[in-house]
Amino acid sequence: MPGHMKATALGARSVFQSLFSRRSVSDQPGPTGECTPFQAAKIVRRHFVRTRFFDTADVPDEISGFEDLTFLFGTSQANYALCLLGLEEAAYLYRLVRSMASPRIAEIGRFKGGTTFLLAAAGGLVTSIDLPVSDGRDAVDTGAGSIDGERLDALLRSALQRAGLGDRVNLIQGDSRAQAPEPQSFDIVFIDGDHSYANAKADIGAWHDAVRVGGALLIHDVERADVMIKGVPELRRLLDEFLAEQQGRYEKVASAGSVAHLRRLG
Ligand SMILES: C[S@@+](CC[C@H](N)C(=O)[O-])C[C@H]1O[C@@H](n2cnc3c(N)ncnc32)[C@H](O)[C@@H]1O
Repeated sequence: MPGHMKATALGARSVFQSLFSRRSVSDQPGPTGECTPFQAAKIVRRHFVRTRFFDTADVPDEISGFEDLTFLFGTSQANYALCLLGLEEAAYLYRLVRSMASPRIAEIGRFKGGTTFLLAAAGGLVTSIDLPVSDGRDAVDTGAGSIDGERLDALLRSALQRAGLGDRVNLIQGDSRAQAPEPQSFDIVFIDGDHSYANAKADIGAWHDAVRVGGALLIHDVERADVMIKGVPELRRLLDEFLAEQQGRYEKVASAGSVAHLRRLG
């Protein structure tokens, strides 16, 4: 067995030994030596799930298809990694971007940049906007400590460069609602920023006119009430209200996971 595989196998064994030698898997924290399922999941995440673009050596230096992007993903919503999309959502976005020639894409909310990477890898020219604050902003327990937005972006930039995608992405640190995008200046706008009803509504209000006629407005977390994010059932209502208001201007084309795909008609 090659050296690095041996090291990985030993690491895996010691983590699982440490998990299963603990006595309790109750939901309540117990006395020393016990481990809740949540704590166990954190240990597994820390060892096996890539939660940052820290080690660009693992980033492929050529992306020839969706299959080269698996390193972006965890295995469930409980341990998502660099990209917070579900696999079916990511595959849908990838195919949509591939169906257009170098589409101009605005991404509202990049967090660690997994979606930014995916959109660029699929051939998009991506303008990505996020707040210049700590990643604690998203209340996601990454299991790898806190890190600020500057550092996240620096890691993302070097990963993009390694994959030859650096020129395709413009990372903006700012408030999505303070931007003034030109009408019809993007082929695709992907909204995945603040998930409160009021702020998601403000994002859609500020950005829907930036989609060119015939282009796509994609909104994350609006299609499924079972998604474990606060406020999501209200976002479903927001989608229905937007479509009712925009009759003749927008129609729903499809949904993939919790992503709604709307087409601009006029
Ligand atoms: C769910 S995360 C984005 C996940 C990313 N699209 C992915 O799938 O990997 C939401 C992001 O929106 C950002 N955000 C929240 N309010 C914002 C605002 N007013 N302007 C820009 N970004 C904002 C947060 O900082 C957070 O990083």
